[in-house]
Amino acid sequence: MNSIELNTLKDTLNKQGYVIFNLENSEQNLLDIASLFGKIVPGDNGALVQQLLAQEKGNGSYGAFSYSVGFNQFPWHTDTAYWDIPIRYLMLASEKPSPCATLARTFDSLSSSIEDFLYLSERAVYQLDIPGKRRVLTPIIRQKGMIGFKFDFHIYKPVNNEAKKLNELMLEQLKLDSHRIVWLGNNVAIIDNWRVIHAREDAHNDKKRILKRVYINELV
Ligand SMILES: [Fe+2]
Repeated sequence: MNSIELNTLKDTLNKQGYVIFNLENSEQNLLDIASLFGKIVPGDNGALVQQLLAQEKGNGSYGAFSYSVGFNQFPWHTDTAYWDIPIRYLMLASEKPSPCATLARTFDSLSSSIEDFLYLSERAVYQLDIPGKRRVLTPIIRQKGMIGFKFDFHIYKPVNNEAKKLNELMLEQLKLDSHRIVWLGNNVAIIDNWRVIHAREDAHNDKKRILKRVYINELV
């Protein structure tokens, strides 16, 4: 990848909230590519390249989506929504083609479809529903002059009416429209985790699905 191509991809990521591109060859190291975009941050288990396996309900780590929903569709979420400031970018790749796509929708788009999106987000209060980490929070991320959002339909329980209403309106919209990131085996997606909410389609037709994920902070 030359610097012009890299700048075009960064530009698309900034404008669109996500960018999808093909790997030049399957041997290309994901960490090398990720480091062109920013600072790599390890996942909760310490791995730089995290392996996400589709799993039967009740398997895997307690608290992971697979543990609760198995091969069914994952709830819409922000990755690391249980961190105070969630990771900024996710790089995702699948070595093999998969019929199980990643679904994505920008908060810009939700905000254009939901008249009171910002009003409700500013007033919504959720409880982080993880044993040992229970606390109340709001879904707005304010950092360096930008506004981002964090949501998780699995571990954020609405506390007030604004949060309940916002969840209702968002779910209605997310059912109507989202972008499918289709895994072709040679492509990579980088998603702005503060500007895009995402989910996994159900994996009943690809129970062997393995997605690789790299967390990235600020763009270099
Ligand atoms: Fe995710």
